[in-house]
Amino acid sequence: MSAPRVFITGINGFAGSHLAEVCLSHGDRVAGTVMPGTSVEHLRAVRRSVELVRVDLLKPKSVSTALDRTRPNWVIHLAASTSVGDSFDAPHETIRNNIISTLNLLEAIRSGKTIKRSIEKIIMVASSEVYGRVRPSMIPLSEKTPLAPVNPYGASKAAADLIAFSYGESFGLPIVRVRASNHTGPRQRTGFVVPDFCEAVSRLEKKKSGRVMPVGNLSARRDFSDVRDIVRGYRLLAQKGRVGGVYHLGSGQARSVRSILNALLKMARQPINAVPDPKKMRPVEVPILVPDISRAQREVGYAPTIAWAQTLADTLEYYRQRA
Ligand code: GDD
Repeated sequence: MSAPRVFITGINGFAGSHLAEVCLSHGDRVAGTVMPGTSVEHLRAVRRSVELVRVDLLKPKSVSTALDRTRPNWVIHLAASTSVGDSFDAPHETIRNNIISTLNLLEAIRSGKTIKRSIEKIIMVASSEVYGRVRPSMIPLSEKTPLAPVNPYGASKAAADLIAFSYGESFGLPIVRVRASNHTGPRQRTGFVVPDFCEAVSRLEKKKSGRVMPVGNLSARRDFSDVRDIVRGYRLLAQKGRVGGVYHLGSGQARSVRSILNALLKMARQPINAVPDPKKMRPVEVPILVPDISRAQREVGYAPTIAWAQTLADTLEYYRQRA
């Protein structure tokens, strides 16, 4: 079998750049979309091995052109507004970006005759945020848990997930839906909890005094993974995921934000004082999200490999090099 042609939307983003590296390590031919005006810094190591297409996914015509040019076998749709926190301040932008880009991508595939023939799998990446404020008794969450998002980001991802489902049913597109849990690691920007904490630690440990770190809600519990594991999962799903299937990717384990803060404060080179900051609290908070990942383990052989302590150490180091 010849090497698959992979098309990654948002290839220059945090997860996209890690996914490009994993695909290249398997010998895949890799292309991807870059939003005009955004940096390709994360792709520095692989820039010459990937084909970049500068397209705004909100423009339907250019999405079709990009697909025509690259004729992919696997499409992995990552481009999105990804911050829950930002989505409260920018609901319109979050919802437009996450829904319209998905629609444009699926429409381009459905209506392009040659494209439709070359495509074997479309991986649509949503989030465990689609489940909203679940009761503790519902943990671990099954893929059948009702979608009940409580913030604009979750709503946009739930809608995109359902649009993808409808394109599978209506037009026979080979869709695999995945709902990923929290993932972090080097290259994740601030605005997410681990980079926010790592950035603060790496900046404050250089100060002589006034080492005070503002923090948000520490009681929330989430399933945190290393991005490098999650993107391996996306590729496994492209290879072996069942068309029409829905999968969770994560570690299958709950971790409190407080435990992450404590681990990072222990790794800090100087004592740092964490203080609650009301500005970092969200209008609505999801107390716990832990999906059951056994389907992905069973059907495609997904297994996280990177220890959480390593993920934190690598992310902290990434921020120390930039402090
Ligand atoms: N961002 C941030 N910054 N969050 C903080 C902070 C802080 O300083 N302090 C506490 N938190 C809490 C948030 O209130 C939330 O409960 C938790 O830490 C995690 O916040 P984020 O890292 O922003 O992630 P998220 O859980 O809201 O969303 C992430 O996971 C989803 C999957 O579950 C994102 O990566 C989404 O894109 C992803 O879909």
